[in-house]
Amino acid sequence: MADQTQMNILALETSCDDTAVAIVADGRQVLSSVIHTQTDLHTRYGGVVPEVAARDHLQAVSTTLEQALRQANLSLDQVDAFAATLGPGLIGSLLIGANTAKTLALMTSKPFLGVHHLYAHVASNYLESDLKPPFLCLLVSGGHTQLIRVSDYNQMAIIGETLDDAVGEAYDKVARLLKLPYPGGPHLDKLAQTGNGSTYKLPRAQTEKPLDFSFSGLKTAVLRVTEREGETLNPADLAASFQKTVVETLGEKTLRAWRDLPGEQKTLAVAGGVSANSGLRQFFQAQAAQHSAMRLYLPDLRFCTDNAAMVAASAYFNPITQDPGVEVFSRTVSINTAS
Ligand code: KG4
Ligand code: ZN
Repeated sequence: MADQTQMNILALETSCDDTAVAIVADGRQVLSSVIHTQTDLHTRYGGVVPEVAARDHLQAVSTTLEQALRQANLSLDQVDAFAATLGPGLIGSLLIGANTAKTLALMTSKPFLGVHHLYAHVASNYLESDLKPPFLCLLVSGGHTQLIRVSDYNQMAIIGETLDDAVGEAYDKVARLLKLPYPGGPHLDKLAQTGNGSTYKLPRAQTEKPLDFSFSGLKTAVLRVTEREGETLNPADLAASFQKTVVETLGEKTLRAWRDLPGEQKTLAVAGGVSANSGLRQFFQAQAAQHSAMRLYLPDLRFCTDNAAMVAASAYFNPITQDPGVEVFSRTVSINTAS
């Protein structure tokens, strides 16, 4: 029997190329989290093909849903609300998750909760943890690179962001240059761990606003090194040099924003696919060991890249609405931007 006092949210995440379903109690306790990944399907194209992604979601969604219920040992009537990512993402893919969750909500007369994908990444830090706002969040994914001040569950302000490529995108592009398989980020991270990061000097972009980022120049600099070095190129050293530059840039700007936070104990969280990066995790872990005022939260590795548990957490802590419809969608796609 389910605990009657807890709120079980079943969430779907289908914004890109993973069909994910999870059930989370009270926004923190993960009862199940299942991910059907499409990586093999897209590898041959070197990236996500939207039409292929949508068709695979359609095929995988029911079995993934069944697995999530089985893993949690719950039936549909023990679920208190249904949630799904409404955006941003590939529309054909989003539709599968959103319509499945809305249909389940209608069938069972339970609420439907829409979720913003970026809020969900921030909320990945609430899973299996005691994190509470206020905190600073460095959000690093395939589509976004942002420093966000989270003053309350529903109050977030972007205080710095990339002016061009997202850091995950830069990882994927550099990985392609080094002929690593798709998805490039994790492969590049692995290769970087075997190289010497001081071999190649790579530029650090200056931005007008100190908390903004820029990675497109770095990507071009990596291309120039590959052209210049030709056969003599050491790919592991280049991967390590790239990773060192990215980690130090992200780290330095994040520390600057962290120091500006009010209070004595200041909390820092990292989120998004790139928060799985070994170099970035080590950097912040070392900082937390040095600064006793720093409380650091890094998501468990299974909650860094896209998953549905973070969507359920976000639905619990910052539900967009309890009423499905078009209105909902238009209201989901804005995170306050600090002036
Ligand atoms: O959050 P996510 O799963 O999807 C988006 O919302 O974009 O992030 C995916 C991104 C990809 O660019 C992927 O290459 C990158 O995160 N990524 C990594 C690592 N694991 C995933 N980048 C660097 N190192 C990693 N270990
Ligand atoms: Zn994501």
